Amino acid sequence: MNMMNPDISLSNETVPVSEPERQYYYIEKAKTYVEALRERLGRPVTFCVTTFGCQMNARDSEKLRGILEQIGYIEAEEEEADFIIYNTCTVRENANTRVYGRLGQLKPRKQKNPHMMIGLCGCMMQEPEVVEKLKKSYRFVDIIFGTHNIFKFAELIVNRFESDRMVIDIWKDTDQIIEDLPNDRKYAFKSGVNIMFGCNNFCSYCIVPYVRGRERSRDPKAIVREIQKMVADGVVEVMLLGQNVNSYGKTLEQPMTFAQLLKEIEQIEGLERIRFMTSHPKDLSDELIQVMGESKKICKHLHLPVQSGSSRILKKMNRRYTKEQYLDLVERIRAAVPDISLTTDIIVGFPGETEEDFQETLDVVRKVRYDSAFTFIYSKRTGTPAAAMEDQVPEDVVKDRFDRLLKEVQTIAAEVCSVHEGTTQTVLAESVSDHDSTMITGRMSNNLLVHFKGEETLIGKLVNVHLTECKGFYYLGELVE
Ligand code: SAH
Ligand code: SF4
Ligand code: F3S
Repeated sequence: MNMMNPDISLSNETVPVSEPERQYYYIEKAKTYVEALRERLGRPVTFCVTTFGCQMNARDSEKLRGILEQIGYIEAEEEEADFIIYNTCTVRENANTRVYGRLGQLKPRKQKNPHMMIGLCGCMMQEPEVVEKLKKSYRFVDIIFGTHNIFKFAELIVNRFESDRMVIDIWKDTDQIIEDLPNDRKYAFKSGVNIMFGCNNFCSYCIVPYVRGRERSRDPKAIVREIQKMVADGVVEVMLLGQNVNSYGKTLEQPMTFAQLLKEIEQIEGLERIRFMTSHPKDLSDELIQVMGESKKICKHLHLPVQSGSSRILKKMNRRYTKEQYLDLVERIRAAVPDISLTTDIIVGFPGETEEDFQETLDVVRKVRYDSAFTFIYSKRTGTPAAAMEDQVPEDVVKDRFDRLLKEVQTIAAEVCSVHEGTTQTVLAESVSDHDSTMITGRMSNNLLVHFKGEETLIGKLVNVHLTECKGFYYLGELVE
């Protein structure tokens, strides 16, 4: 029975069973509830989606926003929002801690404003212990769902409006990919595009395969169609997203490679730039290196997570490459794409890591000379093989290694960054500079940022900028007419 608005519950007979039609039905139905609430409050009903974690989550949040806007919610700051959604991450323990902290702060606000709704979704919700904890100690949360069913958001909202209890819907895994639902892009001129979901690699430290499910690729035609639509709508740059884009296509009925997909996307007229992440070194093919070398649109940047420089640790991590294979791969990429910028992820303090192993990591950093690197302290994730390994490294030892690694990475990055000084580069003007409203911030093909004097009307355009001064990790430049 409809507890909140008994007069507007519709008969179940009319609910479509196939997707996405079913969700469009629920979007219409949710609209009536939000409209009723708007009348009751005498003002627009607002939402705020906060994203934790990676680009995958950021793209999911755009889908949530798209659905909420269709339903009639208006975006607002969290302090004012009637519906607050946290799209969570659980890759490292501190990501979880932050969510519990934020939730604790919401409790008194929700008590004062009973019409408020709180929704939790994303990777953290795929962990049964998290949901148990929420059910026990965070009863004021309204909707909990996972990574496999975000397409059902409108339906879950309706379920919540029609009951007086917490709505929980978590799927263990899925083989479904629902196309053609609304989404609201953060930027008008660039966008993330999912090409695959899930991960089959089971690196021994990583929780992602458990919370994102098995690897499945989107139909290439659906990907191309989506990008064509985006381009017609003003997008010039896409970021193809997957946990391991190099294994794209393996699960399709008609298998194809990531390199082949890139060639098809390259053909899309009006699309100027193609980026992708993340590339697993073990699956990076010669075919891909060749396509990157020949492409006019693929950006000169490759994020190639190494995780560790020690072959012994890499084996324990289940990464399936050695230090030598990684360095050889880097050489081959550099030979084919000489001006490519390389970035990476590194974990310090994996169980059993010795000073010797750590020196191997420093050695890779010195040999590759990354443009930048994300460095992480190993975080024990319950349920992963590494969590059960002996010899967890003491905290103070890890901290000391982390500091030394960061220093090395930053010193090298500053040197590598400065080599472009004096050159002219094509940049995509992305925003008005945070620090100076007369300046525009643009992004070069290699992913470095440059600030230059310019008008806001340039945003979304590709322009030529002369790089006058390197400031460590970014540039100052001048617009070239
Ligand atoms: N699919 C991507 C990585 C996604 S997670 C890839 O394979 O490259 C992003 C990064 O988080 C990883 O590259 C890794 O460096 C880091 N990470 C994952 N699990 C971690 C853990 N348990 N502790 C610390 N860092 C971790
Ligand atoms: Fe995690 Fe490894 Fe999969 Fe990346 S490839 S998401 S690190 S299991
Ligand atoms: Fe975090 Fe999930 Fe991404 S665990 S890093 S948000 S895939």
